[in-house]
Amino acid sequence: MDNNYEIKEKTERLAMDKQGIKVEALTKIYPTKNGVVKALENITFDVKPGEFVSIIGPSGCGKTTLLNIVAGFIQPTSGKVLVDGEEVRGPGPDRGVIFQQYAVFPWLTVYENVEFGLKNKVNRVPPGKRREIVMKFIKLMGLQNFVNAYPKELSGGMKQRVAIARAYAVNPKILLMDEPFGALDAQTRSFMQEALLKILSQERKTVMFITHSVDEAIFMSDRVIVMSAQPGRIKEIIKIDLPYPRKMEDRTLPEFREYEKKIQSLVREEFFKIHAEITELLN
Ligand SMILES: Nc1ncnc2c1ncn2[C@@H]1O[C@H](COP(=O)(O)OP(=O)(O)OP(=O)(O)O)[C@@H](O)[C@H]1O
Ligand SMILES: [Mg+2]
Repeated sequence: MDNNYEIKEKTERLAMDKQGIKVEALTKIYPTKNGVVKALENITFDVKPGEFVSIIGPSGCGKTTLLNIVAGFIQPTSGKVLVDGEEVRGPGPDRGVIFQQYAVFPWLTVYENVEFGLKNKVNRVPPGKRREIVMKFIKLMGLQNFVNAYPKELSGGMKQRVAIARAYAVNPKILLMDEPFGALDAQTRSFMQEALLKILSQERKTVMFITHSVDEAIFMSDRVIVMSAQPGRIKEIIKIDLPYPRKMEDRTLPEFREYEKKIQSLVREEFFKIHAEITELLN
């Protein structure tokens, strides 16, 4: 009896260990006309179920490449990504993606864009329920006066909010977000950060979040991964020991300031590596 219990417990623990995202020894080399570009080198990390992990690093260090591999849009040169123990071989409805450049369908209205994911077979939501969900996220994104507008009638920040609403509406288990709030003004950005944390407190999700903002990375995350300049490698992983729910005022905490100083200096180190090379080229 005891033995059975132990086996059950061990099996459950092993199943739990497999949950979430596991990135194992990823390398990505792009062939180009001018030779090969090594975008990623030997990247290994995991994102546990319900965990919020941010990735920060200089422009061109391979963040979007990494996210696209986890999303299943591109294949790694070597290494692999596991989602809940299954190797990623393509995109799937378990992973909602918000792209760096707002990806909205220009021929659909705001409403139809947000509804889009709810209409496909896997995520099929009954039509009655659909309107409620679509309107909830349109309102959350402050787009209620633009329900029937087309993307060409919207600003860049508004288009990005449509893309965010579309991803949230599908309610995927995993959110892969590539600088989702980068195109937004400071006020909206801060509101979007709090809204996402609120959603996550209600619906447990696993999040991989790319940002250039050290402040945003600390405010949102359980852990922050700092990447080195090209080829992208993991420079350091910093655990953010601040309790959720987080509030605006947390930014004034001495611990927050310490994290900021540390991560800022890691990011700057990498920036100046690139900068030094540029300076050499100019001399
Ligand atoms: N399709 C492609 N073909 C060839 N090279 C590519 C391709 N996509 C990206 N690269 C190269 O790979 C490297 C990493 O690009 P990536 O877009 O992943 O960087 P990033 O960290 O997201 O940068 P940013 O912060 O500016 O968004 C860059 O040197 C880029 O030129
Ligand atoms: Mg990018």
